[in-house]
Amino acid sequence: MVEMDSACRHLAMRAKGWMPDDQGMMLWRTAYNGLDVDDLAVEVGAYCGKSTIYLGDACRQRGARLYSVDHHRGSPEHQKGQPFFDPETYFEPLDVVDTLPSWRANITYAGLEDTVIGVVGDSKIIGDDWAEGSLRLLFIDGGHESAQVKADYDAWMPTLEADGFLLLHDVDPGVGPYEVWKQAHNDGFHEIFAQGSLKVLTRS
Ligand SMILES: C[S@@+](CC[C@H](N)C(=O)[O-])C[C@H]1O[C@@H](n2cnc3c(N)ncnc32)[C@H](O)[C@@H]1O
Repeated sequence: MVEMDSACRHLAMRAKGWMPDDQGMMLWRTAYNGLDVDDLAVEVGAYCGKSTIYLGDACRQRGARLYSVDHHRGSPEHQKGQPFFDPETYFEPLDVVDTLPSWRANITYAGLEDTVIGVVGDSKIIGDDWAEGSLRLLFIDGGHESAQVKADYDAWMPTLEADGFLLLHDVDPGVGPYEVWKQAHNDGFHEIFAQGSLKVLTRS
């Protein structure tokens, strides 16, 4: 049976972030079973690379590529004084959160530099520029406020192949991703797997 590389899984479990291992393995299985050689996948929202390693290992094993999109300045709840602020992500000289060094170290330790390409910037701007219908898998886990998740969905949904896989994290009633999960159903997606708040949808 094919499995996630055990060293990568260990690194993913130790990386900073909020993705439990059972959801991470759902990312891994969906990418492993759904991707083929030279397929492209995007994750929107990488933080320190926890989800990136789960997806990246599956992409590596399949010969696919993962573009990992984040401005690495953190979401509102990650800022200084906010509930999910982590002082280890703070770059004092510029008074900013900077998760890029931690993300990059994790990708290097995981041996994923040839598979995972970091794209640093605003997810809506990058999504608007991305080629339509070019992605086999799209994982959205960026800003969680309703307007931001909606902006990510609107920008990135057209980049997905007609029968590609859309993965949404933190789909819980009352939060932004839940609104987008409902919107996706209106747009013809249906759910094929779920692990807690992680939902996997497709239109095929
Ligand atoms: C919930 S965290 C991602 C967690 C990550 N998937 C994991 O497994 O640990 C959300 C991330 O989205 C990023 N983000 C928020 N708004 C963004 C935007 N407009 N453009 C790019 N990245 C954004 C933040 O910097 C943060 O790292």
